[in-house]
Amino acid sequence: MGNLVSICDVKDDVQHILDLAIKIKSGEIEEQPLEGKTLAMIFQKSSTRTRISFDVGMYQLGGRAIFLSSSDLQMGRGEPIYDTAKVLSRFVDGIMIRAVEHCDVVELAQHSDVPVISGLTNVEHPCQAFADILTIKEHFGTLENKKICFVGDGNNVCNSLLLIAPILGMDMSVACPKGYEPNKFILKIAKEYAEENNTEITVSDDINVALDNVDVVYTDVWISMGDEAEEIQRKKDLSAYQVDLDLMDMANEGAIFMHCLPAVRGQEVTVPVIDGPHSVIFDQAENRLHAQKAILYHFLKDE
Ligand code: CP
Ligand code: NVA
Repeated sequence: MGNLVSICDVKDDVQHILDLAIKIKSGEIEEQPLEGKTLAMIFQKSSTRTRISFDVGMYQLGGRAIFLSSSDLQMGRGEPIYDTAKVLSRFVDGIMIRAVEHCDVVELAQHSDVPVISGLTNVEHPCQAFADILTIKEHFGTLENKKICFVGDGNNVCNSLLLIAPILGMDMSVACPKGYEPNKFILKIAKEYAEENNTEITVSDDINVALDNVDVVYTDVWISMGDEAEEIQRKKDLSAYQVDLDLMDMANEGAIFMHCLPAVRGQEVTVPVIDGPHSVIFDQAENRLHAQKAILYHFLKDE
């Protein structure tokens, strides 16, 4: 049994899960591999894509998902994570959780007797990263030597991409203002992975430097869930990092634009970019379903 709290948890399985996602998307797997299985889905934050793709994914694999809003659970009234983990493990075959604090998901996974899959925390968004690499692979036919540049706030989405990119032979740069760099510990691990795989990870506040030889331009909101109190300061600090057509022109010819969504048009990205020919945002959103079915298959299917 394993968990997917961080991309680090599946370092040796990333390629396998990606291959599985490609197979699943093309219809090449048995029809109901998760027949009779149940996934509990705990949400401490809002969600459109994650909630629906996990629910539909479980259904399509022959199982079912139960939506649990944390405000309705006893956990929301203070029941310990330990007890919640033990009790849920007696009822369900897997737990998906979108949590405010990363450490709560780590604790849940420590005590759960069934696999725990993170559906986003303040530190990582591993399922999103799988959908993203599936999208890049489909678009270019390969990931080897492709370079992704994350522009803006070095947040949870950026962190998971930093970990997954070098594992698959990709280079990655981050263009962010000072003070908005990705998590230090994640960056350190990502650089170790990059060294092992002969790829490169760089972080710069200079957009011109970060955009050198880039195939994928990726951005995310400037104000993530939980950052609302810093709205004014963040808009000021990040204003020079908006992805517009001039910025896209700095990337390689044929470069694509990606965003995990939800997006704020006119803030982190302009309309001509997100709704223009570079954009693959809806393929990316659809791939949440296929990538997560692969993750569910990997973690929940009986051997
Ligand atoms: N990208 C993503 O996780 O979207 P939701 O917040 O809608 O789940
Ligand atoms: N960085 C964003 C991602 C939403 C899917 C957030 O955490 O709100």
